[in-house]
Amino acid sequence: MDYFLYKDDELYVEEVAVSDIVKQYGTPCYIYSQHTLERHWHAVSEVFAKEPHRICYAVKANGNLALLKILADLGAGFDIVSGGELARVLMAGADPKKVVFSGVGKTTAEIKQALSAGIAVFNVESIPEVQRINDVALLMGKIASVAVRINPDIKADTHPYISTGLASNKFGIDKNEVIGVYKIIQQLPGLKAVGIACHIGSQILEVAPFIEALNCVLQLVTLLKTQGIILQHVDIGGGLGVCYDTETPPSLRSYADALLDTLKQHAPYPLELWLEPGRVIVANTAILVAKVEYLKETASKTFAILDAGMTDLMRPALYDAHHKIIPVKKTANKEVLLDLVGPVCESSDFLGKARLLAVQAGDLIAVRTVGAYGFSMSSQYNARGRAAEVLVHKDKMTLIRRRETTADLLAHEIIISDRNVAKNLALKVDGSHNADEKAKLVEVFGCNFFQWLMSKLCRRKETLEKKNEKKPFVKMQALGNDFVLLDLDENARVWTKEEIKHYSNRYTGIGFDQLLTVKKQHDNQFDYHIYNADGGEVEQCGNGARAVALYLCRKNKVDTTKDIHLQTCNRVMTIQLLGEDRFKVNMGSPDFSPQALPLEMPEQSSYEIVLEGEIHRFAALSMGNPHAVLQVPAVEDAPVATVGKSLCLHSHFPRQTNVGFMQIINEHQLALRVYERGVGETLACGSGACAAAVIAIRDGYCRSPVRVQLPGGELIIHWLGPNETVWMEGDAHCVYEGLVCEEE
Ligand code: LLP
Repeated sequence: MDYFLYKDDELYVEEVAVSDIVKQYGTPCYIYSQHTLERHWHAVSEVFAKEPHRICYAVKANGNLALLKILADLGAGFDIVSGGELARVLMAGADPKKVVFSGVGKTTAEIKQALSAGIAVFNVESIPEVQRINDVALLMGKIASVAVRINPDIKADTHPYISTGLASNKFGIDKNEVIGVYKIIQQLPGLKAVGIACHIGSQILEVAPFIEALNCVLQLVTLLKTQGIILQHVDIGGGLGVCYDTETPPSLRSYADALLDTLKQHAPYPLELWLEPGRVIVANTAILVAKVEYLKETASKTFAILDAGMTDLMRPALYDAHHKIIPVKKTANKEVLLDLVGPVCESSDFLGKARLLAVQAGDLIAVRTVGAYGFSMSSQYNARGRAAEVLVHKDKMTLIRRRETTADLLAHEIIISDRNVAKNLALKVDGSHNADEKAKLVEVFGCNFFQWLMSKLCRRKETLEKKNEKKPFVKMQALGNDFVLLDLDENARVWTKEEIKHYSNRYTGIGFDQLLTVKKQHDNQFDYHIYNADGGEVEQCGNGARAVALYLCRKNKVDTTKDIHLQTCNRVMTIQLLGEDRFKVNMGSPDFSPQALPLEMPEQSSYEIVLEGEIHRFAALSMGNPHAVLQVPAVEDAPVATVGKSLCLHSHFPRQTNVGFMQIINEHQLALRVYERGVGETLACGSGACAAAVIAIRDGYCRSPVRVQLPGGELIIHWLGPNETVWMEGDAHCVYEGLVCEEE
């Protein structure tokens, strides 16, 4: 049952006409029906209601945050396969204790991330993975709950690409080796076996293979019992099929009854039944709407060329999958046989072949049953931005993912222009250019400049050699902040105040917002100092800490399985590695007492002050440095330059304060601009993002984690409430390495 129905020959999603949605959001566009989603969730959970069970929705089917949030609010658990999916479900407000981590290739960083989030269980698929989870858990002082995913060697009648339960597939552990693996787990102090799992494939249209798999699992549970190994749950995975065309999947009731009966009859003791359905919950909740750009008649057939293709919906191209295609407006025109194809340069780019439809150029069509593995498998191939996603609830439509723009497509790439290459070469200030590099410099900058540069470099080199004082540095970036990092263990020395001022200037020096210095104390612990462009030392910088962590990882100066500790002038900052260039920084606990900022006003949860003739209300706290946070209706219009500056310099704040202007976007998102003490408005302030998120959580506007959008990018802030430390998650980048030498 779904809510995509015609009214007077017009296709509607619940109470909204598809043509109205397209007028607002364009095509191609995924349109979801909230009512259908909720209905499917209830249908699945009701059939298992009579016995202890847990339904962990498989996020890979569709990970849109708005949909995950609806499911989380309905009490869903989640089956994830990556750190990215974990971040998604946490962001959507999932209870980590209901999260199952599946997948054959969990990285160390992902395991750490999952352990620190406190997920329910890792479904493990190999002995090396068992070892790795044990090692990471021990390092973190935790015990990880695991379930062994078995490979029952069962053939389910489905497309070979989505069959997973055969011995020839990469998934699971051979059923004959499972007992041995549980024995290994028993010996490992960082692990606790709590369950057993299997998943035999997807789009399975009979009950029998599931029962065969469950029986196989239960035989192993019985054997394990004889060895004294007792489990709490059996996870039968997902895989139940849906009707795309003429398929007749088993009813949910018959599927559930067969599983529960088998469990009752063959389990040696009561076990909770866990499931990981994806498709059956979301497939039918969406349509993909596209426009016919052209009708193209050829000698053999007629093509309707759409503005959507395999980049938007991959299933037909990849699995030869059939999706019904219907007109958005029914007409009395004669239907003709058409191949519906996309604009992508691949012959496999089709959405439907040999379909009878009456459509003209400019008409809209809807591809049905695309909620599962539709958007989640879409790509940007052919430099096509991904489609918009819209959620309909009754008579309301809401954009839940905007269409990707050309700017989105270009955002992460770096052009290596000749000028950039040459600029970097010119920065090689020791003059050790080879012949090719010299030729490049001449080509780009001309002979005169080249000769001038070389003579200058030669003189510099001599001076340098004389003084034996090379100053290596690394230029780094984290969220729009530019850093120069000096590694005091690599022949660099701390710059003087004058040097910092000189080199921080974009015209006379290198250009940076802060200078960071790092020096090893022992193991993963380092001395870390932060200087503003004016040469003054500051207490903490979370963006800088991520940059330092990235540098230390790249240079193999740390054990990446452990946290990194940075000792600043007044605290130790702990950093967790989440991925290659993604980090989570412990920013310490917020301190709301006025003495901590300091703020010369009696303590209150919010303060009022008159500035420029108007009353302004702000909250104040120390995140290691002082912050005042003001809530505004729209950050674009926030009076950052005026009120920000006045409040920063106000006599109530004897050591000045940073000032944040925050706009609450939703329960898990806010936008922020910050006036930084001693600097002015900046692109990104890490501690400012923490301060704003803490206030938004404390005052009940948001729940952790909170995405904070700053002009320079996005940070994710985690804070579980008073007395807890604040964690800031984000990335960092290395820009280039160079040497500076004495000015003559
Ligand atoms: N659990 C595990 C461990 C899985 O690998 C999968 C799906 C599921 C649960 C959810 O299965 P479902 O209930 O959705 O069938 N892209 C393909 C489907 C790939 C399924 C991968 N694993 C398609 O479009 O048909």
